Amino acid sequence: MTNPQEKRLLRTLSGEITDRPPFWLMRQAGRYLPEYRKVRETAGNFLDLCYNPALAEEVTLQPLRRYGMDAAILFADILLIPHALGQPLAYREGEGPVLEPIRSAAALTALNPDRIHETLAPVYETVERLSSSIPKDCTLIGFAGAPWTVASYMVEGKGSKDYAHIKQWAYSDPEGFGQLMDILVEATIAYLVRQVQAGAEVIQIFDTWAGVLADDSFRKWVIEPTKRIVEGLRTQYPELPVIGFPKGVGANIIPFVEETGVTAISLDTGTALDWAAKVLQPQLPVQGNLDPMLLVTGGAAMERRIENILRILGNGPFIFNLGHGIVPQTPPEHVARLSELIRNSSK
Ligand code: CP3
Repeated sequence: MTNPQEKRLLRTLSGEITDRPPFWLMRQAGRYLPEYRKVRETAGNFLDLCYNPALAEEVTLQPLRRYGMDAAILFADILLIPHALGQPLAYREGEGPVLEPIRSAAALTALNPDRIHETLAPVYETVERLSSSIPKDCTLIGFAGAPWTVASYMVEGKGSKDYAHIKQWAYSDPEGFGQLMDILVEATIAYLVRQVQAGAEVIQIFDTWAGVLADDSFRKWVIEPTKRIVEGLRTQYPELPVIGFPKGVGANIIPFVEETGVTAISLDTGTALDWAAKVLQPQLPVQGNLDPMLLVTGGAAMERRIENILRILGNGPFIFNLGHGIVPQTPPEHVARLSELIRNSSK
């Protein structure tokens, strides 16, 4: 076993300030890397890649070889849960994920929560492989989507601009919609527990679409389910670090931080640094938040912003990351420059 104290990410999550901030990047494995595109071609479709432990391990390791991030994030997708529950799912070129929508409590009979591990077993094998193949100072991150964000794809059937179907269902029939959310909370806890058993050291919960709700509906469909997942994990792993990423939530980030029990908070691109340093960082470690488009831009504009982020958030426990995932048009050499700047930022 490796000594957890050697791992910058784990030390930061326990509140320490390390020689330099740990860094990793959301979507660090993916289409911006030519070696990913190559593996992706041999795998066939995207789901085949997610369920192939040898190839999923390989693409998880690819960015580490180039850039030496302090963390590896399991290669998988937040929509594997609906898929494992039995909802037909396809990823279409240029269109993103497409699912057969579920829009009523009556339709929930199509989901079978009892057999998810049969479908998800290859993912656990990927985690197991990674826990022995990543560098010893590197932390292994497992993840899942938060119920609200996963449900948005399940109900809309694809990415959405207005969340018309999920909102109307949640607002008009909170009890029926709550049944879907309960299924997702339970399945997500079971899924994440298996990831931790297999070797994941940290869990990140992605709530990409949390920002479309406010106040009472934000509490009910974002804070409550996240809190239940964190509590469910902690009954089995009391010390497990969990990073929350509620994107675009504005002032709701405060009750999210205070009530969900997350260990650290991942800031989106739109979060003001001074404010985060003053209001959030005294309460918990923060992660973020370079604009992925600045990573596409590169040059002086990117470098200035990286330096600002390091200067303003670097005085407390801080994990350098993006404010959202890397986009496919990102030049790999800009990521190399970013990693060099972080690496050379030691105090
Ligand atoms: O961060 C990582 O490197 C780990 C892997 C990872 C993927 N998806 C791989 C992926 C993670 C953590 C995710 C999370 C995810 N998936 C989220 C939450 C974070 C976010 O970005 O908002 C969401 C909303 C999804 C759902 C999803 N998966 C969409 C909307 C798409 C299509 C958009 C796109 O980029 O193509 C995916 C596909 C997907 N997931 C790809 C990858 C590498 C691209 C698929 C391909 O190779 O063709």
